[in-house]
Amino acid sequence: MTAKLVTPAAPPPVPHVTVEDAIADWIDRPVGEVIDHILSRYHGPARRQLGELRALAAAAAIDGALADKLALFDEELTQHMVKEERVAFQMLRAAGGHVGVAMRVMEHEHVLIDRLLAELRDALPVGADGPPGRAQLAILLAEIEADLAPHAALEEILFAGAKAR
Ligand SMILES: [Fe+2]
Ligand SMILES: [Fe+2]
Repeated sequence: MTAKLVTPAAPPPVPHVTVEDAIADWIDRPVGEVIDHILSRYHGPARRQLGELRALAAAAAIDGALADKLALFDEELTQHMVKEERVAFQMLRAAGGHVGVAMRVMEHEHVLIDRLLAELRDALPVGADGPPGRAQLAILLAEIEADLAPHAALEEILFAGAKAR
């Protein structure tokens, strides 16, 4: 199979939203609606972005410590979203169980994922000289970062509300 260094044709990119706009648009909505929005607007696209990240890293023959960091970020974000979908969001919808503990774990993972992404963005800055595959990876990481900010901000509002109950 030939290496693929182009962005897949579908689905079309969703415009990025600022943290402030995401919060303003969703702060007064019911928890279930916010969770549905997070799943469709952020979790679905994040999985597509991670698939693209894997393909670009393979096509650009990324190896060594940078490949390890990319794989760790991929694994942490994927597992984090699974835990939110299977545990945290179910608790928030039901507003029962040990909500506060689950929410603190999710917040801790946000910090970890942010740290991993910051390290990757330092290693792969947008606009740096280098092979085209690395440039595309840098752009994709910037897109992932632009989505993760409002994604995590909306969730942290839900988590904070659950902890306060
Ligand atoms: Fe999430
Ligand atoms: Fe999250």
